[in-house]
Amino acid sequence: FEEGAFTGKHVVITAGPTQEAIDPVRYISNHSSGKMGYALAQAAADQGAQVTLISGPTNLPCPDRVERIQVKSAEQMLEASLQRISETDVFIASAAVADYRPSEIAEHKIKKVDGEDQMIIKLVKNPDIVATVAQHPERPFTVGFAAETQDVAQYAQAKLARKNLDMIVANDVSNTKIGFNSDNNAATVFWGSGQRELELMSKAQMASEILNCIKTQLKD
Ligand code: C5P
Repeated sequence: FEEGAFTGKHVVITAGPTQEAIDPVRYISNHSSGKMGYALAQAAADQGAQVTLISGPTNLPCPDRVERIQVKSAEQMLEASLQRISETDVFIASAAVADYRPSEIAEHKIKKVDGEDQMIIKLVKNPDIVATVAQHPERPFTVGFAAETQDVAQYAQAKLARKNLDMIVANDVSNTKIGFNSDNNAATVFWGSGQRELELMSKAQMASEILNCIKTQLKD
């Protein structure tokens, strides 16, 4: 085990999409690949951290020296996050959590109804995982992500304040060369008193740059 900048630190990372069940065979989800969160987990482990990766369903292999907890729904992801909060030094929320879930999960497969051309699924809001962690009395250093399509800086800084975060990584998802399924990313990192531009680079490089920003803020 190598000495690194994060030796002795427990870093917890959420990654991937969540799946919100409709019935035993169907769900609501999104196209998040989980690549950014897995790259962060790998980079944090490489820098000596004890890493817990709380992951929604993805096809990615678990990075070396990382403990992975696989979950499906936002509620499961929140529970896994809160379970470890008192021993967490840094919490990084990179998961694309579904904003809403079906208000109830049907016990049996929902049948289509002859003559009904529409069906309505009632949704309820999911808990905000990163905001819940950031409000906790034992809150760790808390980092969020913001995917925006316009006015990136203003929306990201508003989100930083509203969710009580220490740091936010904002990317412009109107740029199709980066983000969601891509291996590359570009972003701006904001914290209370400053910001840093991360030009287009691989998600592995971006992960280590984000960790550098965190390391600097942890020291202050
Ligand atoms: O509000 P918005 O979804 O844009 O915020 C994105 C940030 O909040 C990401 O860090 C994401 O992981 C986190 N988030 C969360 N729980 C939610 C929604 C978003 O942790 N229910």
